[in-house]
Amino acid sequence: MSIQDKARQRCSWLPSAEVPEGPRYKTLANQIATAIATGELKPGERLPPQRLLADALQVTVGTITRAYREAERRGLVEARVGSGTRVRGMQADTPDFHHLSRATTDSIDLSLSVPIPNPLRAQQLSAVLSRVSEQASELGSALDYQSEQGSQRQREQLAAWLTEQGLATDAKDLILTIGGQHADYLTLQSLIRPGEAVASDALTYPGMIAAARQLGLKHLPVSMDREGMRPDALERLCQRQRIRLLYLMPEHNNPTAAHMTQHRREEIVRIARKYDLLLLEDGVQFVRSELRGTPFYQLAPERSLYIFSVSKILSGGLRFGCLRAPGNLIPQLCAGLRAQCWASPGLMGSVACEWLGSADSSLLIDWQWQELNARHALLEKTFSGYDFLGHPCGFHAWLHLPEPWRTSDFIDQAAQRGVTLISPEPFCVGSQPAPQAIRICLTPPAHREALEIGLNRLAELLAEGPRLTAPLV
Ligand SMILES: Cc1ncc(COP(=O)(O)O)c(C=O)c1O
Repeated sequence: MSIQDKARQRCSWLPSAEVPEGPRYKTLANQIATAIATGELKPGERLPPQRLLADALQVTVGTITRAYREAERRGLVEARVGSGTRVRGMQADTPDFHHLSRATTDSIDLSLSVPIPNPLRAQQLSAVLSRVSEQASELGSALDYQSEQGSQRQREQLAAWLTEQGLATDAKDLILTIGGQHADYLTLQSLIRPGEAVASDALTYPGMIAAARQLGLKHLPVSMDREGMRPDALERLCQRQRIRLLYLMPEHNNPTAAHMTQHRREEIVRIARKYDLLLLEDGVQFVRSELRGTPFYQLAPERSLYIFSVSKILSGGLRFGCLRAPGNLIPQLCAGLRAQCWASPGLMGSVACEWLGSADSSLLIDWQWQELNARHALLEKTFSGYDFLGHPCGFHAWLHLPEPWRTSDFIDQAAQRGVTLISPEPFCVGSQPAPQAIRICLTPPAHREALEIGLNRLAELLAEGPRLTAPLV
């Protein structure tokens, strides 16, 4: 069999005939567009590896690269390092209310960590906006430039709300930020110099990886287990290398769902004091107080920063959050924030604080926690017997794939069954290899039934095992 024939056999997709238009790469980009429009290529589906398609079509790899780039420029596909080029999911482009239709049209998104869609969100926001618009003094101060730390009144409202949630907070320790990612970036930019080192769990939130990279920091991975970061591994790293800051998600690691025990938190504090590390706790994956451990800022107040945002409980679009920091670091953080944006928008703060402080928000947040609990139970039922980790109010779970599954095959084959997942690659710090495991987000489907269908499809896939593909020689 010729190389071309073998490659054609191995390609998961081949373009059908199309009238050539200009250069070959453009024709191929058009063919990709047609295949997506007709449903032949589905959201999340991976395009064939470039070399394979080049062999199959008898063109150069450069032609395929240009075609994929052209398709990406048109917003049809997206390229991710380590996981190839995939047809863009609807999730990336459309708001939450499309989830239901996707569930019934055979494609279920379990790839993103977003609040559970509920029409109540928009209804509540509408009521909040009209209340804010009727408060002349609130509108007046929203028109003013704010101090770098943010409005005193909003910090007091937020501190009162956090305290009610079991996170005792004083307004003077808060800096209002444009969401959690901003607080992550602000901390690194203000407190760590380029070339200095920060460390985190080996699998961590990609926004932190991006921020450290953007700022030219060394980002070192620390091995972890089901309780999160391993103190012995951290201590060994500190003996070898000067670390300035440790980034932690003790309640619910994104992506592994690891939850840190009290003993482990105390061990981390002991090491942080011994080696003089700052501790940055990211609490954006917000869990209810009864299930929460002691935050680091209570265990080691002199060196701990804490991040909160409304993104997972109310809305990611509001871009509102805060950074709680020890008093001696506030001036440096304020100087950093001033250099970036002067201050967070006062109007957004008014809206978020009015919403948080209302009885409406408790209704919504409690509903989401109950719903997460029920979704978690569904997950436990579906994957009993498999090695996975979740949390009763966590947005995602982490499933170790049984042998001989490889994650990329699992993602591909799930996409063919209409379930969208994302690769663990973006969560890997440095050049750490990605594990054969997958994050399953429980929140994008609007209805539990759609989630159940998606989970069942994944369970069926696991039970059947990977489809064998002939090796390419
Ligand atoms: C751990 C963690 N930190 C920060 C963020 C970003 O938060 P925000 O949307 O408030 O910027 C996310 C979002 O998924 C997250 O999972």
